[in-house]
Amino acid sequence: MTHTGSGSTYDPPADSARGARPTAPTAAAARRHGPPPSTGLPVALVTGASSGIGAATARRFAAGGWHLLLSGRDRRRLEETAAGTSAVLLPADLAAPEGARLLAQAALRQTGRIDVLVAGAGIGWAGPFQTMPHTDIDRVLFLDLNATLHLVREVLPSMVAAGRGRVVLVGSVAGCVGVREEAVYSAAKAGLAVFAEALRQELRGTGVGVTLVVPGPVETRFFARRGRPYDRSRPRLASPGSVAGVVWDAVSRGRDDAYVPTWLTLPGRVRGLTPGLYRRLLNRFG
Ligand SMILES: NC(=O)c1ccc[n+]([C@@H]2O[C@H](COP(=O)([O-])OP(=O)(O)OC[C@H]3O[C@@H](n4cnc5c(N)ncnc54)[C@H](OP(=O)(O)O)[C@@H]3O)[C@@H](O)[C@H]2O)c1
Repeated sequence: MTHTGSGSTYDPPADSARGARPTAPTAAAARRHGPPPSTGLPVALVTGASSGIGAATARRFAAGGWHLLLSGRDRRRLEETAAGTSAVLLPADLAAPEGARLLAQAALRQTGRIDVLVAGAGIGWAGPFQTMPHTDIDRVLFLDLNATLHLVREVLPSMVAAGRGRVVLVGSVAGCVGVREEAVYSAAKAGLAVFAEALRQELRGTGVGVTLVVPGPVETRFFARRGRPYDRSRPRLASPGSVAGVVWDAVSRGRDDAYVPTWLTLPGRVRGLTPGLYRRLLNRFG
């Protein structure tokens, strides 16, 4: 049992897929790719920065002149994301005990502030729920939901104290509608969506905002990692760069949510307004 800085307790599951050992970002582990942040630059902490959406988002923010703190587990891929920037690498396993707390501490030690947190780390699992190993239920829920909440919990006080900041949560259309044979992933992302809504209300007047980014399928290693390719004809796969552009735009405009592509707001709206019709359409068109 781990006692977090927030006073909560939890039992993070081991990462069975990678057999990864708990990794805490230490001063020695943090590698700079350039000069220390020249004061005044806004700072973004991006998790999942070693691949896919997180990596593309990190590159978009770097192009926009931000100073970056990049986290993921794979140091080599983090270095690729950071190439040509002054980003600081903070490798961390967010499924490890205290992973989120240690990452937040290391990040704040580096720069003293975080203007934007992009919580992009996440994994999927696909298959009939009845066959899903219990360890995988825990793994998906822990990384996609719990670890994200713990990280936000650790970073938020510094944003509120500064009177500014934005938390960007990477949800999924699965969390809006519930996708067959992705039940636990859908549940985790639905949890994130409702968390975003509740937290946004709580933070009103603090200067800190919450953005929920809701992508449909995106062409990343996500599908290979979960062991089942994307096999639907639509929605079509978006590029990680297009999601990164939407994240950038949402942060620039202080938007509460952003769908990629934008028409993906529709299924959730139909389901909310007329669940019966939504299910009939689903049964017919899949
Ligand atoms: N691809 C899609 O179709 C899609 C659609 C909607 C939402 N999303 C969401 O978008 C986010 C990014 O996914 P992606 O598509 O970019 O997938 P991806 O290319 O597989 O990237 C996943 C990222 O999460 C990191 N990660 C995985 N386990 C971790 C752990 N235990 N600790 C720390 N970091 C860990 C990975 O780091 P390492 O590689 O270093 O382990 C990697 O950087 C996820 O939250 C996913 O649910 C994806």
